Amino acid sequence: MRASAVIVAAGSGLRLGMGQPKAFVTLGGQPMLFYSLRSAAAARSVVEIVVALPEGMAPAARSLAELAGVKIPLKLVPGGPRRQDSVRHALALVSAESELVAIHDAARPLASAALFDACIATAERSGAAIAAIPSADTLKRVVDGQLVATVERAELFQAQTPQAFRRELILRAHRAAYADNWTATDDAQLCERLGATVQVVPGARDNFKITTAEDLKMAEALLGALAG
Ligand code: C5P
Repeated sequence: MRASAVIVAAGSGLRLGMGQPKAFVTLGGQPMLFYSLRSAAAARSVVEIVVALPEGMAPAARSLAELAGVKIPLKLVPGGPRRQDSVRHALALVSAESELVAIHDAARPLASAALFDACIATAERSGAAIAAIPSADTLKRVVDGQLVATVERAELFQAQTPQAFRRELILRAHRAAYADNWTATDDAQLCERLGATVQVVPGARDNFKITTAEDLKMAEALLGALAG
């Protein structure tokens, strides 16, 4: 089984408000992208990594990959205006020898190598697999500050990345979305749209997406705890 890891790191990080692209904000002494590079490279089934980057960040990403112990081929590509464009640009560089592709947000620095492997192994059997966790809180539908309903949460999961797919399926899904000018917030949705079955692999609570300064503090604390 050969898989390519796509890491999307081209977001501006405006919501984080640190004045630089989010994937390069320092976390536990390293730019955030370091952690995804390290996990992807440590995943047994990953044979190459493709990273979508903000303009001008390729040299920094190459040094980070070296620091993260990336020994497999590394390809760098400029991102696009939407996350979906960044993924599409990266997919264009994925080796035709990879049967599978695992797509991951650099903004989830605490994803483990084992989670990459679990998603890839399940996608090999089923075509598509995403990491997701059950919703722990009671969910309310709120309109204009007023509660209008309690949503049954038993079937509700929070989607994470990695999300792994057979290469042929994810290429077809992105081509179709591009042709139809259709935008989704994750890659699984593009496959759902084609009628593909997507399996769920147990994700991890610490694999949260860093969006705000508060998230950054939580990730710092977790990394500190992991380092002992
Ligand atoms: O903005 P958000 O955190 O939801 O983005 C999720 C991931 O997608 C991040 O790792 C970000 O760097 C990436 N992204 C990208 N290109 C964009 C927008 C987001 O690679 N145009």
